[in-house]
Amino acid sequence: MNSTAEHVAIRCRGVTKEFGAGGALVQALRGVDLDVYPGELTLLAGPSGCGKTTLLSVVAGIMRPTAGEVAVLGANLHTLSAHELVRFRGVHIGFVFQQFNLLPALTAAENVTVPLIVAGWSRRRALAKAAELLEKMGMADRCNHLPGMLSGGQQQRVAIARALIHEPQLLVCDEPTSALDARTGHTIMELLRGVALESGRAVVVVTHDSRVFSFGDRIARMEDGRVMEVQRQRVAAAERLQAIETFEQVASG
Ligand SMILES: Nc1ncnc2c1ncn2[C@@H]1O[C@H](COP(=O)(O)OP(=O)(O)O)[C@@H](O)[C@H]1O
Ligand SMILES: [Mg+2]
Repeated sequence: MNSTAEHVAIRCRGVTKEFGAGGALVQALRGVDLDVYPGELTLLAGPSGCGKTTLLSVVAGIMRPTAGEVAVLGANLHTLSAHELVRFRGVHIGFVFQQFNLLPALTAAENVTVPLIVAGWSRRRALAKAAELLEKMGMADRCNHLPGMLSGGQQQRVAIARALIHEPQLLVCDEPTSALDARTGHTIMELLRGVALESGRAVVVVTHDSRVFSFGDRIARMEDGRVMEVQRQRVAAAERLQAIETFEQVASG
């Protein structure tokens, strides 16, 4: 591990990913180089099919690359066994999907407890921690609601809480605002920005929605399986403060 790797949350070098073989071969990633920093919100932008979800899955340890180097929080993912990778993910990574993926028969709080229950926590302790986090996210009065009784924005907050409940150092989100209206999407992006800033976490958000570009500290633009450029954005201090406040006391609704 060289010294640079210690200051980045994710370091990708020459990452390729192929699906299928022969005439059906798809090169989803064609040599991705990317650095992602802690305490920042990094956006992965680009047209549909350019490899955003594949790259997110690779850095989250859900998918193995065909070739290349992927270091996450100082660990070279290719050196981990399948079992170690599952463990690493369970401790260090939170994943938020486009379609919330909540379990419909469980309440909001119960959905949030799932990663803790899997990790062996008692139901009681897990529920207490879930309620605390949901309260912080402006969802105190929704803990006992089933997902079907919540708005899209509220369901996405539950999904974000579930991804954060084990306090991962890396949060990755695949198009988290695409199923939401513009205003709700805006609030969710502020929430995610606050999550990154408040905790020194690295947050990576995939989007093809240019309305949310202003929220990124960095925008990595992908095209045809490669990161073409990374643009650094200066986000105003007032906006940063706003984002932290949103995370600390976001109004429910
Ligand atoms: N499991 C898979 N099997 C075969 N091809 C896939 C698979 N997943 C993604 N692809 C292909 O890889 C390319 C990149 O897909 P994806 O990462 O989902 O793009 P994006 O998220 O940017 O829309 C696309 O051509 C897609 O069809
Ligand atoms: Mg995708």
